[in-house]
Amino acid sequence: MVRTAFAPTRRALLAGGGTILATSLLGCSRGATSVPAAAGGRLPEIRLDDQGVTLEAAERPLILGTDSGPTPAWLYGNAAFPVLRARARQSVNATLVNGLKEHTSIHWHGVRVENAMDGVPYVTQMPVQPGERFSYRFAPPDSGTFLFHPHCNTVEQLGRGLAGILIVDDGENTFFDDDIVLVLKDWRIAKDGSFLPFLTVEGAGRSGSFGTLRTVNGRVSPEIAVPAGANIRLRLVNADSTRVSDIGVEGAAASVIAIDGNAVSPFRLESWRLGPAMRVELALRAPRHGEKLALVDYFAAEPVTLANFVVQGTPKRSDEFAPVALTPPNLPEPDLANAKSRQLRLSATAVATDYADLAPIVLPDGKRIDLLDSLCSTSRTLWAVDGKTWPQSGHEHLPPPLLEFARGETARIEFVNTTPHVHPMHLHGHSFKVLSATKLARPIHWADTVLVMPEERVEIAFVADNPGNWMLHCHIIEHQDTGMMAWFRVA
Ligand code: C2O
Ligand code: CU
Repeated sequence: MVRTAFAPTRRALLAGGGTILATSLLGCSRGATSVPAAAGGRLPEIRLDDQGVTLEAAERPLILGTDSGPTPAWLYGNAAFPVLRARARQSVNATLVNGLKEHTSIHWHGVRVENAMDGVPYVTQMPVQPGERFSYRFAPPDSGTFLFHPHCNTVEQLGRGLAGILIVDDGENTFFDDDIVLVLKDWRIAKDGSFLPFLTVEGAGRSGSFGTLRTVNGRVSPEIAVPAGANIRLRLVNADSTRVSDIGVEGAAASVIAIDGNAVSPFRLESWRLGPAMRVELALRAPRHGEKLALVDYFAAEPVTLANFVVQGTPKRSDEFAPVALTPPNLPEPDLANAKSRQLRLSATAVATDYADLAPIVLPDGKRIDLLDSLCSTSRTLWAVDGKTWPQSGHEHLPPPLLEFARGETARIEFVNTTPHVHPMHLHGHSFKVLSATKLARPIHWADTVLVMPEERVEIAFVADNPGNWMLHCHIIEHQDTGMMAWFRVA
C-alpha cells in the first residue's frame, strides 16, 4: 500500500464550457423531438441558486450511436446527465417531478445528507409516484464530485440513463483553466437503438450484463476541445451499472487529485480502477496545439479510447506543471482503538434468507410502514452480504439491520470477498477511510464506494455520526437487485 498524506490548498472553481445560469431550464419541454447529446462533448451545467432546480424524470428519445435510431432514454430534464453546481454548506433545493409511468426517487450518492433526504424508497421516504413531486433540500457538507440517481428499479431506471452529477465547490481556485465532467456509461441497446433487457440471469450471476455501446457524456468517443498548455481538471464519474474501467490518460502526465470527491495528496496516475458509482478527479497540463490527448480504458487487452481532447490555440501556460492539492476533506477521524468491528462476507447464495424477525420501519418523517408493496428488488436472490440476501419483492417488511452503531461510534468493517467477481461496495450517509486492501494497491483514502476485488479483503472505518437508517450495497446494480444489499442503523 502506498500511503498518502493530505495537504491543504485552495479549491477549484471554474466556469467550464456550457454553464447555464438558469434554474429551471431542465425538465420543461416534453415532446417527441430527439435530444442530441451535449454539444462539444460537454455536459449542460446548471449553477444552483436560491430558487433551486426542478428535475423532471421523463422519457426522452436520445440519439446515441451514429447508426442507431433514437433510444427511449429516461432523463432528468432534456439532456443526459445534467450537471448541478452547488456550493459547500449552502442549500441545495432540488424538486423531483416524476414524469415516468412508475415510481422513483433520487439518491444523492456520496453526499452526507440527513437521512430523510437520502432517497431510498420505504427506508427514508415513500416512493414518488407518477405525477407526484418531492423536494430534496440539504446543505452538502463536503466539496467534491457526486452523482445522483434513482434507488428503485435501479436496473432499469439507471440503465435507461436516469442520473445526474452534483458538483460541490468550496471557494475559488485559480489553478485550473478548464474543468471537464466526463460521465462514463454503456448502454444496452440493439442496432435500432431500442433497449436490450437490463437484467439477465447470466449477467446478474456473474459480473453483470455489460452495455453494447460505450459512451462518455452520452457520446461515442467524443471530441472535446481544450486550450493548449492549460491546467485541466477532469472529473470522471462512472455512471454505469456494471463496468469497471481502468482509467488512463495518453498524451500528458496526469495526477489523481480526488477520489469520490475527497482530495488526496496528488499522485501520478498510472491507471485507476473506476467501478460503478465511483469518481476520480485528475489534474493535467494540456499539450501543444494539435497534439494527442486522450482518455483511455486499459481494462481490456487492447486499450479503448473513451474520449479525445482536441488541443487548440497558443499555450496558456509555460511554467513547470505541478498539480496543487485540493482542500482536504473535513471528516471525523475514526477511533480505531475503540471501534466496533465487523467482518462482512460477500458471497453468492443459492437460497433466500429466511428472516425470523422482519421489522416494521419508521421513516424519518415519523410515518410507519407496515405493509410494503415492494422492496424495490425485482428478481431472484443470487448474492448475500454476511450470509443474508435482500428479500425479493412481495416481502412485507424490511429485514433487520445488518449492523447497528451508537451515534459517534467508530465502525470498522472488513469486507471479505469470497466470490470470483469484483464488488464495488457503497455505504450511504457516511464517507469512510479505506485502510487496507489485500490485492489492488491503493493509497489510504476517503471514499463512499470501494472496489473489493475477487478473493480480496478490504478494511474500512468511519465515525457513524449521521443518525438514521442507511443502505449498504454492491453498486453493480444487478448484484444489488439480486440480494447484495443490506442496511445499517445509526442511533
Ligand atoms: Cu449510488 Cu445506494 O447508491
Ligand atoms: Cu457485486
